[in-house]
Amino acid sequence: MQFVLFLAMLFSLSFNALSLPVDSPNHLQGRSFKVQRVKRDGYVSHGPTALRKAYRKFGIDTANLNGVDVSDFQPFETKHATHVKAAKEDVEDSEQTGAVDATSVDGDVEFVSPVNIGGQTLDMNFDSGSADMWVMSSRLPKSLRNSRTVYEPSKSSTFEELKGSTFEIRYGDSSYANGPVGKDVVSIGGIEVAGQAFGLPTDVSQTFAEDTKSNGLVGLGFSSINTVTPEKQNTFFDNVAPNLDEPVFTARLLSNGVGEYEFGTVDPEKYRGVMANVSVDSSNGFWEFESAQYAIGEGPFHPITRAPQAIADTGTSLMMVSPEVAEAYYKQVKGGLYAKNANGYIFPCTSSLPSLSVAVGPGYSATIPGSFMNWSEVGTNTTTGETVCYGGLQSSGSSSMAIYGDVFLKALFVVFDKRGPSLGFAAPA
Ligand SMILES: *[C@@H]1O[C@H](CO)[C@@H](O)[C@H](O)[C@H]1NC(C)=O
Ligand SMILES: *[C@@H]1O[C@H](CO)[C@@H](O)[C@H](O)[C@H]1NC(C)=O
Ligand SMILES: *[C@@H]1O[C@H](CO)[C@@H](O)[C@H](O)[C@H]1NC(C)=O
Repeated sequence: MQFVLFLAMLFSLSFNALSLPVDSPNHLQGRSFKVQRVKRDGYVSHGPTALRKAYRKFGIDTANLNGVDVSDFQPFETKHATHVKAAKEDVEDSEQTGAVDATSVDGDVEFVSPVNIGGQTLDMNFDSGSADMWVMSSRLPKSLRNSRTVYEPSKSSTFEELKGSTFEIRYGDSSYANGPVGKDVVSIGGIEVAGQAFGLPTDVSQTFAEDTKSNGLVGLGFSSINTVTPEKQNTFFDNVAPNLDEPVFTARLLSNGVGEYEFGTVDPEKYRGVMANVSVDSSNGFWEFESAQYAIGEGPFHPITRAPQAIADTGTSLMMVSPEVAEAYYKQVKGGLYAKNANGYIFPCTSSLPSLSVAVGPGYSATIPGSFMNWSEVGTNTTTGETVCYGGLQSSGSSSMAIYGDVFLKALFVVFDKRGPSLGFAAPA
């Protein structure tokens, strides 16, 4: 099945110009691009779970989100995940650049890519919002492996224990992974790091154990937030950057399809038009940038006051915006409301969804099509009998930063650049 979606990126030339969506030579609105979709096999990705995961990851307190318990909301049963075809490795000739598939899992809940550790290939989730690599291995009790393929250090001649080191990643109270740390040859898209450190959890929370599509995380945030003690370890990207043609990786995530991460090069074939180069504040360990204005549909730009900084996070499914942006957005959606018992913003599935533009840096904005804001069917309105949908756009609650996850990133071609550091945003080719 093939859908044609529309992406509009509005580039304004100065901060002031952003207060109105002016037509500039860089105005790309109305151009189309194609998104390949694969059949969903009846799987419905579970929005509230995706949102809870993100809230936990960033320790967000949702107690003071304004919302009501809606008595006529009846949630659907969560359906079981169906098989998603395995990603295949795509090795480039050059040793200094490499590309790897990013395969959508369960309706874009996450994207997984093949990673080779000591000769063993496992599907893992690349997470630009954390800085630990950890892999499910034979060190994990059988009860938590859930019949997945695990990495077996004893079968790798290049594995080394990092004696005395432990890692502990904790996303709030209920989601975690911890255990000893080892080193091995890690190869992604044909780019190799000889002594890459990674965690070998002896314990993970049920949320990780149940997610059998992913065998661990590859943190692509800044190494300053790596959790290994007594000595922090570098991420794969930090280790490999000096050997790359350019110290970058790029992300092209495709909704319900197979996109790509590429290391070491910015492929001019992958995007078109202007690339917005935005400076990054890495002091919190994230790919954090200024995003201080928003506009809904064709409307004017408004300032974002509660959380005017955002992070580009490939490891979060949804786009979580400053509370006032979420509130303003769903005011423009017929029947849109924040329902506490649905754990987020919901709307009748037949409502039309406007696009959302957010500033990226002081001089540019990116427009996310309304269709991307429709995460999944989530329940029934027992008054009207209508199907209710869950928003791909949700509030970032008490967080001091917005979290622009996959719902945002899927609309763009994104460059994560150590120079600066900076982020590049462009319309995908
Ligand atoms: C169900 O529909 C009624 C009537 O349109 C509306 O007032 C109510 O808020 C809706 N409830 C939900 C959960 O959407
Ligand atoms: C949202 O997606 C559901 C399927 O998941 C579809 O039935 C519905 O029509 C969509 N609604 C909008 C407004 O795009
Ligand atoms: C973006 O800006 C930074 C800092 O000014 C620079 O080092 C980097 O090369 C630029 N990136 C691109 C892709 O132009």
